[in-house]
Amino acid sequence: MGNGFDIRLETLVNPGAPALDAVATGRGAGIPADVAGRGTFFLETFGCQMNEHDSEKVAGLLVARGYQQVETAEAASLILYNTCSIREKAAQKVFSRLGEYRGLNTGEKKIAVLGCVAQQEGEDIFTRAPWVSLVCGSASYRKLPQLLAQVEAGEQRVAGLDNDTDETFETEITRRDNPWRAYITIIEGCDKACAYCVVPFTRGPERSRDSARILQELKQLADFGYSEVQFLGQTVNSYLDPSPSKMKFSELLIEAAAVPGIRRVRFTTSHPRDFSPDIIAAMDADPAICNHVHLPVQSGSTRVLREMQRTYSRAEYLEKIALIRSAKRRTAITTDVIVGFPGETTADFDETLSLLDEVTYDGVFSFKYSPRPNTPASSLADAVSEEEKSRRLALLQEKQRAIQSGTLQSLLGERFEVHVDGKSKKENAWYGHSSCNRVVSFTSVNPQLLGEYVQVSISGCTANSLLGEHIL
Ligand code: 5AD
Ligand code: SF4
Repeated sequence: MGNGFDIRLETLVNPGAPALDAVATGRGAGIPADVAGRGTFFLETFGCQMNEHDSEKVAGLLVARGYQQVETAEAASLILYNTCSIREKAAQKVFSRLGEYRGLNTGEKKIAVLGCVAQQEGEDIFTRAPWVSLVCGSASYRKLPQLLAQVEAGEQRVAGLDNDTDETFETEITRRDNPWRAYITIIEGCDKACAYCVVPFTRGPERSRDSARILQELKQLADFGYSEVQFLGQTVNSYLDPSPSKMKFSELLIEAAAVPGIRRVRFTTSHPRDFSPDIIAAMDADPAICNHVHLPVQSGSTRVLREMQRTYSRAEYLEKIALIRSAKRRTAITTDVIVGFPGETTADFDETLSLLDEVTYDGVFSFKYSPRPNTPASSLADAVSEEEKSRRLALLQEKQRAIQSGTLQSLLGERFEVHVDGKSKKENAWYGHSSCNRVVSFTSVNPQLLGEYVQVSISGCTANSLLGEHIL
């Protein structure tokens, strides 16, 4: 989580929430007087954007219970740790961090473990780290108020570990970290069952939120001054509206883009199987729908894709790329790749390298395969050695660096609309994102640009970003 302490309180409130003065003062319908001033909390987050946004909602829930957020674990009476278990390294980090928190614990502090490691390790966490009071997986966040009440009452080992749920996490207040760009989760969990992935176990089955509620939340955010929204889901384009209106994902994008005040609509992560032509038609119809698609491929070899249970072949994936390339605007495409999946031969890996050349991605997130508990792939034989995984990863990253450098060079002289995120330390220096999600650093003599949309002319680049000047 960033340092979002200067955010106007009214922007934290979701539809159906209590009156704002009640939230601000801790009195009234939303926050009964008896819960105001409960204590302080520190929330640390690892992992994906879904985790970041879950933390924003958890923080909102705590604020509504009368807790105050603080910037250090030392200052907090309640430490919450939102965890990621997608790869082994991330999961290992949790226990070393819990060890550090133990050092801080004078007996007064309560420590909670949330998220994917909580779900995966369950009550074993209490055995390995007995100083933890609460363990709660993401599919149980709806129960957090009751679970917190148990912790507040002095219970020692409180657990929320349901996994098979049809509920989504709705809060009255979300303590958002960015005052201009908001995340909205539209679909939780995953039904895809890729052979290497823990997400279906840690986040439970796919469940979509009601389209009317999503749009209502977005309208309120726009009223509070948010102009950019990012729809989130592990497989965001598998969205299935549970309400009678049965709005398609592409229709939801169009409706969102039409909300007054909303200038940019993003969505991530898309699954190739469900990436349909109507999504591109929506992007063509309304330029407020950003020209960036994150479409994880994982491998360029059809044989490995089959082993991974990705449900598409290399050729089918490339058809989706051709579809995106047929969009009216040049659309940035980014991806995720895993190297060293069990049984991946050098010939398979070469196919991944050639896919990079064929697609010319604008960004690649690449990972060494990491066996995860309970996943089908964890029992596959013929593991690729760590050394070989590292070699393949380095080769892949080197190739992508060269591809990206060529692409960035080709953009010199172009003009981009940039949504300004921040000011650099250097004088007159700012940075932000283009619609296609490139980081653009630029100079401007304008004294205040935060949250603004400005035109920037591109005159240079670094390995990962563009450099330019504000066109006044
Ligand atoms: N090992 C390595 N990378 C993984 N990912 C998911 N599971 C694993 C794993 N077991 C990667 C995939 C996914 C991204 C979020 O993390 O590339 O798209
Ligand atoms: Fe994991 Fe596959 Fe679901 Fe993505 S689509 S979350 S990789 S199971």
